[in-house]
Amino acid sequence: PPLRLGLKLTAMVERVPLFAGLAAGEVSAVGRLLRARVVLPGQKIVTRGERGDAMYFIAAGVAQVKLAMGDVELGEGAFFGEVALLEHKPRNADVVAKGVCHLLRLDARDFRRLLAARPDMRQEIESVAAQRRG
Ligand code: CMP
Repeated sequence: PPLRLGLKLTAMVERVPLFAGLAAGEVSAVGRLLRARVVLPGQKIVTRGERGDAMYFIAAGVAQVKLAMGDVELGEGAFFGEVALLEHKPRNADVVAKGVCHLLRLDARDFRRLLAARPDMRQEIESVAAQRRG
């Protein structure tokens, strides 16, 4: 069985507002697409310029997006790494764990499937990505 590292997958999924509207059965279906990952303080999660192969949801902790105008901090419930997947472009920033982060990783292929099945989620993720592009 996968290593749980303290937080149960369904509890992690429920911490993400994007998934808040899901019924119990849908939470477990979405949960099957997600891989729990713990990253340590200072660890780089996403590297600017690399090809995007996944996006991440923060179940606990804070991640820093390293931008020219300063760092942007993303906390529990936020997500990142969606821009490269939506635009088929390289990562536009480094993202680093500030403290210990409990992440949910969604692979690019499952990202495309989830968004095709859930237009509401597609719309929410696209609107956040549009704000981040400025
Ligand atoms: P991606 O380009 O895949 O990888 C870097 C990520 O940093 C990017 O997706 C966004 O999720 C995130 N990001 C980039 N710019 C901002 C911003 N201004 N505010 C918050 N997050 C950002």
